[in-house]
This record gives sequence, C-alpha cells and structure tokens, in this order.
Amino acid sequence: MKAVISATGLWTPKNSINNEELVESFNAYVDKWNTENTSDITAGIKDALTYSDPAFIEKASGIKSRFVISKEPILDPNIMAPHIPARPDDEPSILAEIASNAAQQALESVGRKPEDVDAVIVACSNLQRGYPAIAVEVQSILGTNGFAFDMNVACSSATFGIEAARGLIMGGQARSILVVNPEICTAHLNFKDRDAHFIFGDVATAVLLEHEDVAPKEHWEVIGAKLVTQFSNNIRNNFGFLNHCAPEDDGLKGERGKKGLTDKLFVQNGRSVFKEVVPLVANLITEQCAANDLDPHALKRMWLHQANLNMNVLIAKKVLGKDVSLEQAPVVLDEYANTSSAGSIIAFHKHSSDFKNGDTGLICSFGAGYSAGAIFVRRVG
Ligand code: COA
Repeated sequence: MKAVISATGLWTPKNSINNEELVESFNAYVDKWNTENTSDITAGIKDALTYSDPAFIEKASGIKSRFVISKEPILDPNIMAPHIPARPDDEPSILAEIASNAAQQALESVGRKPEDVDAVIVACSNLQRGYPAIAVEVQSILGTNGFAFDMNVACSSATFGIEAARGLIMGGQARSILVVNPEICTAHLNFKDRDAHFIFGDVATAVLLEHEDVAPKEHWEVIGAKLVTQFSNNIRNNFGFLNHCAPEDDGLKGERGKKGLTDKLFVQNGRSVFKEVVPLVANLITEQCAANDLDPHALKRMWLHQANLNMNVLIAKKVLGKDVSLEQAPVVLDEYANTSSAGSIIAFHKHSSDFKNGDTGLICSFGAGYSAGAIFVRRVG
C-alpha cells in the first residue's frame, strides 16, 4: 500500500522588496538611530550602528528579493516591521487564508473537490496562535472532511508533514491529505538587525498526498524517506503564549534580558548553523541513498531547503563529489529569500514539470531544531 504525492500548490504575496529597497530603509534607520544616540556613542556607552549592504547580502546568502505580506511598514525607518492587523475571531485568520489559497491551487490542479480530502495538516514554523488549530480553520474554509491538526518542526515542517500524512494514509486514517505550509516569516524577523534583516520572506505552499488507489495516473511515488532532529539553540524564536511577559518581569538577566522584545523574534548564529548543518544534511542524504539502494548521481534533481545558496552548493558538492548545476539543485532563494518550511516545496513546485516517468529526485529540508528531512521521489506516469 502506497501514499503518493498527487499535486502541489503555491501562493505568493503580491508585494516584494528587493535588497536595494531593504538596505535603503535599513541605512536610513541607522542614520536616525546614530543621530538620536550621538552623545552615548561619543561617550563610548553605545556602539554606532553600521550600514547594511546589498552586495554583502547577495554574496553571503544568494538572496536578491523577498515577497512580503506587508511592504510599506517594513520599509518605513520609523516602523521596520510588517503591519498585519489583528482580525476579529469571526473572520478567517491570515494564516488560514493564505494556507487555503495554496491548498485550493493544489486541489484544482488535479481536479479534486474539498470533499475528496480527509485531513489537513498545517505544518509550518510560524503559527499565529495556540488554538484552535489553524488546520481546523483551513478545513472549515475549504470544506474538507475528517480531521485537521497543526505541527511545527521549523524549516523541516513540510517534509515532516509529508511523512506524517504518509503514515496516516498507510495507517488507514485517511486516503487524501493536504499538507499546507503558510509561512509569514517577516512577522518574526527583526528588521533592525543587520545580521538577519534580509533573510526571510512570506509565502504558502501545499502538497496533496493520496492513497495510490485514488491518486491520478501521473504522481510522485515516495521511494524512501528519513527524518532526523538534534537539539540546538543556534536558531531560535522565543515567541509563544508562555513567553509574552516583559523581560524585566521574567527574571532574565544579562544579554537576553537586555534584548527586550526582540528576544521574541528570530535569532541565529548563522556561521555555526552553516558549519553544523551542512555535514548533518550531507550525511543524511548519502546514508539514505545507500539505505534505499539509490545512486545519488542518478538523482535528476535535489530540491533543497532554501536558506543560503552557498550552503546548498556545499551540500550538493559533498553528496555528489563535484559542483552541481542550478538545474540539478534549483534555487528560488534569489526571488523568495528563506521561506522556512515552504522553501524546498517552492523549488519542487516550480522545477519539476520536466520530469519523465521513472526520473528520481530528492526533496530535502533542514533548519531549526536542528531538524532535517529527506524525501526521495520517483515520477510515475
Ligand atoms: N551588510 C554588510 N555586512 C554585514 C551584514 C550586512 N547586512 N551582516 C553582517 N555583515 C558583516 C559582519 O559584520 C561580518 O563582518 P566582520 O567580518 O568585519 O566581522 C561579515 O559581514 C561576515 O558576517 P557573518 O554573519 O559571519 O556572515 P556569513 O558569511 O556567515 O553570512 C548568513 C551570514 C546568515 C547569510 C550565513 O551565515 C547563513 O546563511 N548561515 C546559515 C543560516 C541558516 O541556514 N539558517 C537557517 C535559518 S531557518
């Protein structure tokens, strides 16, 4: 009995911000902050802030632009954050809305109706509330059957969601499951932090998994998969309902206490992530190729997580022992930036239409946790 991938969907916000626009606003903020803090800077109490640079961003990460839900406030040096107004409880939440858009597209692409779907899993890094689960709201918006739940494995949420769905289908709980990845990453990004202000964008992706008996003739067979996690604080986001009190009230001292509200946003030690995650992922792919009797050189494509171009180039080189072309490991980072769990699914969605019957490829995620997921697929039909 097999569970296969029948379709994917992608919802992209209308607005985007390129590196030049982002840096112009960041540098205006730097000028403003330095002017406001001139006396402390002169007295040596505070360090002056330094400019960001579009050339650094592109060279260090491969990112040229990012799509965003809310553009103007991010670029306003007096705000430097998206404005996503709270909605009343009787209106669809923004996360459920964008998730539904991506899911709808996946369903329409294979002529499925909502009632054909037995379950919805919202798998993403950036959930907007504790409960009710966003997935149950998506179930209600779309009109799907059965059950729904949320799950979060940070950047690996999509691959872990695919594996959760496969397990549920093979266990008999459902025959058709939508795994949806709505990622509003900009709401968790500190746009005043030079080291990170360029990293993330917003998007939503969807993957439809079905029992092979109901799947369309043309689909993706999953021929092997492996999930791993290993605890690390090198990528962290402390946002959460148990974690909303002011830092002076929660007894935190030292650097973390001083960070105030920014402690509730994304932080990372990018260099360590790079060094530690590259071997973890390269070993995972190599070992799983061996375990599944797959020659990595025979993989037509690797749809890797989209966090950093240099990281992807290095992972592919470690696995294949040589430089790889963009055709073998496509990049969407330049246009979308890091979209957390959605990244490898965007790459898969946009760069898979040339696959012929029997061609094999790898969807691979990695990120906070640490977490990594490898899903080997073969085109059928
Ligand atoms: N503009 C100009 N210079 C900048 C800058 C900016 N926006 N941000 C940092 N720099 C400077 C630093 O100050 C540093 O200068 P120094 O050498 O004089 O001290 C230099 O550039 C290098 O900074 P560093 O942070 O070490 O850059 P990096 O090459 O490691 O690239 C990342 C940074 C974040 C792009 C990279 O580490 C990365 O992507 N890592 C993996 C992250 C990842 O996968 N995360 C998963 C998240 S889900």
